[in-house]
Amino acid sequence: MKYQQYICEICGEPYLGVGAPSRCPFCGAFGVRIVEAEKWEPLWGGEISEAARTHLEAALQLEVGNTNFYRNVSKAPGVVQDQKMFKALSKIEREHAEVIVRFLGAAMPDFESLETEADKARETIEENLAESHARETRAINAYKLAFSEVEDEKVKLFFGELIKIESDHLSLSE
Ligand SMILES: [Fe+2]
Ligand SMILES: [Fe+2]
Repeated sequence: MKYQQYICEICGEPYLGVGAPSRCPFCGAFGVRIVEAEKWEPLWGGEISEAARTHLEAALQLEVGNTNFYRNVSKAPGVVQDQKMFKALSKIEREHAEVIVRFLGAAMPDFESLETEADKARETIEENLAESHARETRAINAYKLAFSEVEDEKVKLFFGELIKIESDHLSLSE
């Protein structure tokens, strides 16, 4: 294998390496979704159904909230390795929001202005992990419902992959 460009099918971000990584460093998608650059085609950009739109809009709210929560926790006092883990989670959730916005043909929201009280860091690592667990569980349940209700092939694929990615996140707080 040679050093070359790969592109993630789920987030569209380019990756330079020798072989695809086990997870996309940007959106967390499983390595099988990372293809050689010349084989890549964007998932988004087509017409989407009303059902897809409704589920994507709900997903955007979850992803924005989770991005904000994880960013806040990454900046709260604590062990540096914990802060970095939350920073990575925040970046991944932001990437998910970016993909959703592309599916919706919308503009990127102003994340900080959408921040709520619930997105503030908790006092202890245990509380932050518990909150993370609750958020990932909520997202997984919402995406499972979306996966069962949406018929648009590409949106369905996206929700299917999100379920796996957020399940990876859930395992971090177990
Ligand atoms: Fe990705
Ligand atoms: Fe996410």
